[in-house]
Amino acid sequence: SEVKKIAVIAGDGIGPEVVAEAEKVLKRTEELFGFKFELEHGLFGGIAIDERGTPLPQDTLEMCRNADAVLLGAVGGPKWDNNSKELRPETGLLGIRKALGLFSNIRPAVVFDCLKDASTLKPEVLEGTDLIVVRELTGGIYFGEKFRREGPFGEEAVDTCVYNVTEIERIVRQAFEVAQKRSKRLASVDKANVLETSRLWRETVNRIAPEYADVEVEHVLVDNCAMQLLRRPSSFDVIVTENMFGDILSDEAAMLTGSIGMLSSASLGEGSFGLYEPVHGSAPDIAGQGISNPIATILSVALMFRLTFGYEEAATAIETAVKNVLDAGHRTGDIAVDKSKAIGTTAMGDLIVAAITR
Ligand code: NAD
Ligand code: IPM
Ligand code: MN
Repeated sequence: SEVKKIAVIAGDGIGPEVVAEAEKVLKRTEELFGFKFELEHGLFGGIAIDERGTPLPQDTLEMCRNADAVLLGAVGGPKWDNNSKELRPETGLLGIRKALGLFSNIRPAVVFDCLKDASTLKPEVLEGTDLIVVRELTGGIYFGEKFRREGPFGEEAVDTCVYNVTEIERIVRQAFEVAQKRSKRLASVDKANVLETSRLWRETVNRIAPEYADVEVEHVLVDNCAMQLLRRPSSFDVIVTENMFGDILSDEAAMLTGSIGMLSSASLGEGSFGLYEPVHGSAPDIAGQGISNPIATILSVALMFRLTFGYEEAATAIETAVKNVLDAGHRTGDIAVDKSKAIGTTAMGDLIVAAITR
């Protein structure tokens, strides 16, 4: 079959640890399904600042542009936390999303039955939870003008939140399309009682909703949504929201699944090209100990197979392998009830690789 080019940018902290396990999964699927992957590795994030003086070197960006898909670990850490904006790992992350036109971030939160006891919430509340946060990724307050100035009461800081109707419409349309392939319920989350950007957001949703008449739309204010996610998580199907709300709500949704170490993501534009990364960060508190959970990154490979390559059978095979390993009782520390029985990153990766079948 044809060769797929995958750009791998592991980044900082636990990024390289979890990406190594995802690479083992790629290799195993080549053997089992006859795929051919060409992997290229690039510097990105804090390590790129250290070695190249910028979080997103031009050659790394070019490598991503020439690939069919990108696999990303995580970036950031205390070493770079006091740097100026241009020399922050996070600036590289925002830069790569923007440069590649990845305006749509799909973050599924699925509760594995056997992990209901790993969550801090009651198992009966979690029953049947299977939702997707569709997060706008290249607009809003993250990308608006930012500056400092001297005001009458001392130094002031300004972050502006801007959305144009085109940006809103394209993400909302993607969310409607995702909802149409699922249980046809869409929750649009905003703060339309206060924010002008949210009022434009809500108007846009209402204007295009008739084109997706089979989808039932619910508008939910973001504060209420944060609460309802804990109260009735299983009632949500697809949630569409702006950049910062989506960032916060998806970390909250992670705890429904037991751990942020379980949440995968796909960042997409208009075509099939995509960037795949776990929702979590570089976890400096546990980096280098070999105890991080690689499942979020491994499940991101499954999303890459499904959404960019159309390898549906292999995507399902990876997800099934993860489920079977968890059903057998294997746990990394973040999802272990009995922490003394927890296994490490590579042990978890090896078990999942061995469980993939055709
Ligand atoms: P984090 O997601 O890195 O960690 C939050 C908590 O979850 C920590 O206790 C961590 O140990 C735990 N955790 C995260 N992933 C885990 C995994 N796979 N297995 C087990 N436990 C895991 O968030 P943070 O601590 O707020 O941020 C740390 C750094 O990461 C910051 O520099 C931040 O900017 C960056 N960050 C990067 C990304 C990204 O690259 N996409 C995302 C979020 C945060
Ligand atoms: C994420 C992260 C990033 C974001 C940060 C590190 C810039 O939290 O991918 O969720 O806020 O988008
Ligand atoms: Mn985040």
